[in-house]
Parts: sequence; structure tokens; C-alpha cells
Amino acid sequence: MEIFRNKEPLRAYVERQKEMGKKIGFAPTMGALHRGHISLYEVARKENDLVISSIFVNPTQFNNATDLEKYPRDIERDLKILKASGFVDAVYVPQTTDLYPDKVESKSYDFEGLETEMEGKSRPGHFDGVGTVVEELFRQVRPDNAYFGEKDFQQLAIIKKLVAILKLPVKIHGVSIYREENGLAMSSRNQRLSKPQKEAAKVLHQTLLKVNDWFRIITVPEIYDRVKDIFDDQAGMALEYFEIADEDTLKETDFFYKGHNYRAFIVVNVGDVRLIDNLHLD
Ligand code: PAF
Repeated sequence: MEIFRNKEPLRAYVERQKEMGKKIGFAPTMGALHRGHISLYEVARKENDLVISSIFVNPTQFNNATDLEKYPRDIERDLKILKASGFVDAVYVPQTTDLYPDKVESKSYDFEGLETEMEGKSRPGHFDGVGTVVEELFRQVRPDNAYFGEKDFQQLAIIKKLVAILKLPVKIHGVSIYREENGLAMSSRNQRLSKPQKEAAKVLHQTLLKVNDWFRIITVPEIYDRVKDIFDDQAGMALEYFEIADEDTLKETDFFYKGHNYRAFIVVNVGDVRLIDNLHLD
């Protein structure tokens, strides 16, 4: 596995691969790799000649300095995981100046309202930060295909919009949520849960499955009431939000209209660990 720590050698490598007609699959990350990331590489491996990943903790997508500082960083561990997976040909570990040559600040995008829903409400500017770093990574890595987890469904929608707005020649693929045995969506935050908390946290996915059973059988307000009741009974857990939204616009709905696709989104704080999950309703 090749490791590039600056943009010049990465660019030269990409150029050589392009000249050889290789199709490039790319999965950017912020490190702290887990099985969910491996599932992105696994899909990318099947659909491309070459798989590139990146590890960069992007400062512009953090809303506060403490979160950025506390974000887990262990490059050597991550590189070992990438190598052991056997799916990745090259990894780009850029310096901040490779991605932000002048000033560490976000560009401002118009994601047509996608950025102000759900996560955008409590994290102003977050998606501009994601857009800025992903745009620059795409310009440097020049992938044919790029892979993002559906756990961050709003981010996935925003990256699709970014590519459409900028007319970037890359196809964006969402990869299904990788789940722990008890159904909990895989996340680096799960490590911060105690054993009993982790067991209890399966209620997020179980609730989403129940919502799917209730879909188009009871009304949207009735579903919201039942979800609230479930979490009112959970000790040590606080429901931050539950929303059923249109999959295309991410706008919350109060009614299931014909011909629309819907997805349920949930955010719960288990102790001080913020967990997110979502499920397509069918
Ligand atoms: O999902 C992430 O890990 C990050 O938001 C991303 C897409 C790598 C951009 O920093």
C-alpha cells in the first residue's frame, strides 16, 4: 500500500494511474477507522481498478475547538487497518497546507436547503466545511467513483449536491450502514460506550425497525408519539431528535405523500455519547 503525505507525490501517482486507464475509487475519512469504513473499501474494490483512501481530520467542519482537539488520531493504527484490509492501494494523509494552502476556512455553498435541515440546525457551517474539504480532495485524487456511508445520510446528500453544482466528474455512491451484532450502527463513538450502554443502545435501530412497521399504517404524528414514549422509558438516554423526512429534500414531513421516498432519522445521547442512525422506509 502506497502512502502519500503531500499533494505533489499523490498528484503524480494519480496522473500515472490515469494514463494507464485505471478507474479510481475513493473513500475519504477522518481516521479512527472501524469495520464501517472497511465496508466502503470492500464495495470500492469491486467496482474500480484502484482504491484510494484519505485520512484527514478536517478543522473547518468542527463547530468547536474542543471537539476538534478531542477527535481521536492514531495514524499508525489506521494505516495498519487499511493495509490489513487488503482492499486499499493507496492512502493520502495530507498536511493542512495541502488542502488549505492560504487560509484554513470554508468556502460558502448553496446546497439548496439541504444544509439547514437536521444536523445543520445544531451545527452551523458544518456542511460548508465538509464541502470545502471534499471538493479539494476530489480535485486532487480525481476519482471516478467515491464512497460514503449512509449513516451520515445528510452528508451523502450534500456531497451529491456539491458534485452536481460544481459539475465534478465523479459518481457518488452511498454504502449501507454497517451494524454491530445487536444492530447498533458502527461508529468510532461506540468505543466510548460501556458494555451496558452499548447493549441498551440497540434500541435506536429497533425503534427505526418499528417505525418501518408503522409506516403508512398509522399517521406521522402517531409515529412521533410512539417514538417519544419509547425513549421516555429509557434510563440514561435522551432523544435529541427524531424526524421522518423526504429522502430527496430532507424536509421533515407530516404526511406520507404518494410517490415520495421517506427516511427516518434519529439522534440519541447515551450518557455523553451522541449516536445517530437512520433507515429508509418501505
Ligand atoms: O465523514 C467523514 O469522515 C468526513 O465528514 C469526510 C467526508 C471525510 C470529510 O472530512
